[in-house]
Amino acid sequence: MSFTTLLILAIAPAIWALDNGLGQSPPMGWNSWNRYTCDINETVILNNAKAMKETGLLELGYNHIIMDDCWSKRQRDPETGKIVPDPEKFPNGLEDMIEKIHNMGFKFGMYSSAGKYTCAGYPGSLDYEEIDAKTFADWKIDYLKYDNCFNQGRSGTPLISYQRYEAMSEALNKTGRPIFYALCQWGEDQVWNWASTVANSWRITGDIYDSFDRYDIRCPCETYDCPSLQGYHCSIMNIVNKATPLAQKTGPNSGWSDMDMLEIGNGGMTYDEYLTHFTMWAVLKSPLILGNDVSNMSPEHLALVSNFDVIAVHQDVSAPANRIWKKPFVDSFVHLFSGALSNGDWVVAIVNEATVPLVEMSIPFSDIFFDNRDNAKFAWTAKDLWTKETITAARHLTVDVVPHGTQVWRLQKSTHNSHNSNYWTGHNTGHNAN
Ligand SMILES: *[C@@H]1O[C@H](CO)[C@@H](O)[C@H](O)[C@H]1NC(C)=O
Ligand SMILES: *[C@@H]1O[C@H](CO)[C@@H](O)[C@H](O)[C@H]1NC(C)=O
Repeated sequence: MSFTTLLILAIAPAIWALDNGLGQSPPMGWNSWNRYTCDINETVILNNAKAMKETGLLELGYNHIIMDDCWSKRQRDPETGKIVPDPEKFPNGLEDMIEKIHNMGFKFGMYSSAGKYTCAGYPGSLDYEEIDAKTFADWKIDYLKYDNCFNQGRSGTPLISYQRYEAMSEALNKTGRPIFYALCQWGEDQVWNWASTVANSWRITGDIYDSFDRYDIRCPCETYDCPSLQGYHCSIMNIVNKATPLAQKTGPNSGWSDMDMLEIGNGGMTYDEYLTHFTMWAVLKSPLILGNDVSNMSPEHLALVSNFDVIAVHQDVSAPANRIWKKPFVDSFVHLFSGALSNGDWVVAIVNEATVPLVEMSIPFSDIFFDNRDNAKFAWTAKDLWTKETITAARHLTVDVVPHGTQVWRLQKSTHNSHNSNYWTGHNTGHNAN
């Protein structure tokens, strides 16, 4: 394929995604599960929504309040067949709570499962897609997280899973209400190959665990191509390693790989580890869904998730950055990520997975711009998105990264030409083809 053809493909306005008008950039918000699991009620949800607004997180783009499992009674209404909200957890009614959340300026996210039961054993929506979609739309939901528990064996091939998730996609469409459709199918049956035509986002791994790199046999694979069992208790770096090869399957024209909800503020990681967690989720364009008690959040964790420059990269209408390499370093690895943003800027991130500091490592522009070698000829202004320091660099960047930390820059082509703009003599990748 010629460079010109690639360019036309890259700028063509084609949308291969589910056509519900949602998800041009990955969603942001808050979900109850990581912090509260089943221990939810209207007080918990509304207190977190209020805190999201008061802390300025809503204004920064965290505009979904998503209620996870355990919100209903154990049985459907025998007469109407509808799922019934638990009146003890929602004494004022679920619709009243949703209205309050809407009035604060949020969108509301609902939870169900493409199974007979939800993961906690409440009624699931399998074979009840139309009645449940209609009920949810009547309640004015804006987002549906759709799980995979108790699927009655209707999985094991991509087509069977596809059909099970397509049924709810069609039911949601029929309601006429635009509802962001978030598959939580754990990355089984190669969901990344088929989800984009029926959904806005899709989970690519088992459930996250609040740890940087703890090995757990219950999250059995180190890369995305796990044969069947995806498990749970997946560490941050386990999920990063699974997400990076799948970056090619996600973007504004298809939908978003979901690396699961954030753990920042839940206590299992250091500040630097949470910084890596947040930066990687942003650079790889996973939904950024907080999963902590926002009403009781430390100022440093609040500042971390409020980093406007990192959020701007996340919300930029562009595909995720690619991992250019992963190199052995002392007791672990160093990773280089690089990607184009929509205005011609670039985002570059270095993750130090090791337990010792990375000191003055030189990263050549020929690596950073491996996918667009022309750019290596220029000088770039590089803003460190955490320290906010700006430097001008040509030929290479010099990086210093604390153990388990990440350094991330936004690179903007410098108005001054590099003194040595013709120094690069690498392979011709076709940029002269037109
Ligand atoms: C339903 O699907 C059609 C065809 O893809 C699309 O044009 C329409 O916007 C969808 N409606 C909703 C509410 O998602
Ligand atoms: C919700 O749960 C919290 C904590 O368990 C409790 O303090 C509060 O009273 C509950 N509210 C309702 C409406 O049940």
